[in-house]
Amino acid sequence: MTGQTVPVIIDCDTGVDDALALLFAVRHPGLDLRAVTCVAGNTDVDGVVRNTLIVLEQAGAPDIPVARGAGRPLVEVPRSARHVHGEDGMGDLGLPAPARTPVELDAVALLRREILASPRPVTLIPTAPLTNIALLLRTHPEVTRNIERIVFMGGAVACGNATPVAEFNVWHDPEAAAMLLTADVPITMYGLDVFQRVLVPGPDVRRLRASTEPGARLAGDLLAHRPATPDEDGDDPAGGIGDAGAVCAVADPEGLTTRLLPVEVSLAPGPTRGQTLVDRRPRPGEAEIHGGGREQALVDVALDVDVDRYVRLYLDTVEGPVG
Ligand code: BDR
Ligand code: CA
Repeated sequence: MTGQTVPVIIDCDTGVDDALALLFAVRHPGLDLRAVTCVAGNTDVDGVVRNTLIVLEQAGAPDIPVARGAGRPLVEVPRSARHVHGEDGMGDLGLPAPARTPVELDAVALLRREILASPRPVTLIPTAPLTNIALLLRTHPEVTRNIERIVFMGGAVACGNATPVAEFNVWHDPEAAAMLLTADVPITMYGLDVFQRVLVPGPDVRRLRASTEPGARLAGDLLAHRPATPDEDGDDPAGGIGDAGAVCAVADPEGLTTRLLPVEVSLAPGPTRGQTLVDRRPRPGEAEIHGGGREQALVDVALDVDVDRYVRLYLDTVEGPVG
């Protein structure tokens, strides 16, 4: 990373792991979090706004503008993930209502304003269904001139979670994801293949939970809500950083192994809907040879992650100085 900070905007559906991503972004000295926009996903959009404001407040973040965005996907009906993220969408931790309020602008307007106003091109980090981003790209295509790249959490090369083949963020709004992939900017796909691997060991989670600093303590409580495999002694589960990994990938791109590959979202009704079809073939197949090929977006797809490096980065940042 150069001496200059990277201007970033997070579009999220906070969400336990979106909260982990926000906690990291506001504390990483190399990132300049310029705005946060909210979209329906893990919970309804008003819940997402509330959760986002709570996290920024608990983290002691500066006055970062937060805007409410789309309340439902472009075509699909909203389908929340409260069974994973709790009734309030953020782990039911009983945190106090926020004193902060969202800005008057809607998410698309705030995204446009902050992207065009940034002195250096912005890196967009969507960690949610891509509805806001699709609406932005269709409403204000001129923003791409000041977008450095988009690093989104979504999709999967190998295996889905919402369905056997589709990842939640893409499955929730497949049309929006398809629009994102054809945006005329470099795109990195931080998919489930790497997302599920970055786990904070149980003893570290326990230490965070015991912290007297509210942001670090919140990170511990959120990680404890995301137990992965039990630790060796069986009573100290590791916690996945989830969406925060996409922000780590911006702060420390060297920790991620990517390959530029053609990617397409399945929009067909039925069992493949929302699947990200990643073409890893070494040469064209019969479909292309016989003229059936389609033009597909080239996306930098995350294929491997240095787990220890991102765990260390996450802990050093979240336990580091505030501001
Ligand atoms: C994604 O879906 C949500 O539940 C998480 O916040 C993450 O963005 C994983 O599929
Ligand atoms: Ca999310």
